[in-house]
Amino acid sequence: MDITVKQTPPVGLKTPCLVTVVHEKQKLSPSAALLDAASKGYLSRIVKADELGKGKTLLVHRVPGVAADRVLLVGGGKANAAAQADIKKALQAVNAALEECGASGAALYLDDWRLEDADTKRVARMLGEVLTAAAYRFNELKTKDNKPSKLKRVTLLGKDRRQIAAAQEGARIGAAVGRGVNFARNLANRPANVCTPTHLAAQARELKKGQRKLRVDVLEEKRMRELGMGSLLSVASGTREPAKLIVFEYRGGPAKQKPVVLVGKGVTFDTGGISLKPAAAMDEMKFDMCGAASVFGAIQCCVELDLPLNVVGLVPATENMPGGEATRPGDIVTSMSGQTIEILNTDAEGRLILADALSYAERFNPDVVIDIATLTGACVIALGEHASGLMSSDQKLAERLLAAGVAADDRCWQLPLWEEYQQSLKSNFADMANIGGRSAGTITAACFLSRFTKQYRWAHLDIAGTAWLNGAKKGATGRPVPLLMEFLLQRVR
Ligand code: BES
Ligand code: MN
Ligand code: ZN
Repeated sequence: MDITVKQTPPVGLKTPCLVTVVHEKQKLSPSAALLDAASKGYLSRIVKADELGKGKTLLVHRVPGVAADRVLLVGGGKANAAAQADIKKALQAVNAALEECGASGAALYLDDWRLEDADTKRVARMLGEVLTAAAYRFNELKTKDNKPSKLKRVTLLGKDRRQIAAAQEGARIGAAVGRGVNFARNLANRPANVCTPTHLAAQARELKKGQRKLRVDVLEEKRMRELGMGSLLSVASGTREPAKLIVFEYRGGPAKQKPVVLVGKGVTFDTGGISLKPAAAMDEMKFDMCGAASVFGAIQCCVELDLPLNVVGLVPATENMPGGEATRPGDIVTSMSGQTIEILNTDAEGRLILADALSYAERFNPDVVIDIATLTGACVIALGEHASGLMSSDQKLAERLLAAGVAADDRCWQLPLWEEYQQSLKSNFADMANIGGRSAGTITAACFLSRFTKQYRWAHLDIAGTAWLNGAKKGATGRPVPLLMEFLLQRVR
């Protein structure tokens, strides 16, 4: 879908569908007021008869005096500036209504969409991101009902040159973030027999094509063995799929600038290994590579926006299967850091692959390292699907991520990483065990990771609850790509 910005008054605009906002108490938005005047009160008569609730839509054909084929009214709630989450809901309703009527294009009036504390650029960015993400379908494996979205063009209408310029810049960023989100969702929605570690490596090479500022390197198991990555390899030993460590190096900033390193858990399917998971909803463990997918999405977005930053992406990718050569509970392995690990539960595999990837991150001399992982079921219990878990050894970094989450409407919530929690990882036979007790599972998982991140500032995002939805809307969300991009964009200024 294309998003363009135009300086055109809405009344005379020829478009398949003009979207206009109506607020509470029949208060018309700027564009609705213009259309109402042109149609001699037609719209205000409609909303008088049929009050439009927040996020409700009403499609009207052939409004007198208006050039658009259709006018789509959408309830915008209170007339003063709205919260981002409300606008998102309204836009999703707009997208659904546009799909239903089959319009190939639509236009929105920028002044209708007033967002608290936000200028035109920010509003256009949000419109670009949300509309791009709302048009997403995952149909590549359906032979019927697989029509792509009919909506091809969205035009944002502005009233003067300055507003247009700001909106163009915002829409460009928003659309790129939306495409990053959709890319992450595509990788994650693909089943594990398609999206293998080898598939992820091929996708990384695809991203690299023609991009001078992006380097892609794929480390094979042989190289991992040479590097001493016994922890990562212990997870890969139970499957026939070869593990990969995918390395993206995006060099958009000055050569001397220390990079942000993003590390994404890429377990393409998590059976639990010998500590086998129960059968119920096990299909959802194809989403256990959503951290990896978010790194792919963020890297694609950096490339597309040509960001003047250095960003490294590391994706340890493997399956976790109970094959004949699988790791047994009680096995002890040596990580790349030299620390030994007693694997008491083979289902706590994410931290094992991340440990070696986090050690590998040291060689990039990072400014900060952020890992993103569907790491613990306990995080779903603690925070549900609304916030990702955040733990960090650096409070400044944590606060930046919290703020980025709020600004991007992709929030995270901090949990403590106090020294006291480290005790639960004690092992009688090795430097540490790979699991703590029953309590504070999200925190003890982060404690485990913290032992491999002593050389730099580090934060951990547990996205077990936010990375995908289940039930009727089952599918990847693309989170936390918006949060990561907000965090990176903040560093540009
Ligand atoms: N990938 C899972 C975590 C998970 C479970 C995410 C359910 C989303 C939904 C992870 O590898 C795992 O199995 N973690 C275990 C750790 C435990 C054995 C200490 C868990 O959370 O049960
Ligand atoms: Mn597991
Ligand atoms: Zn897992």
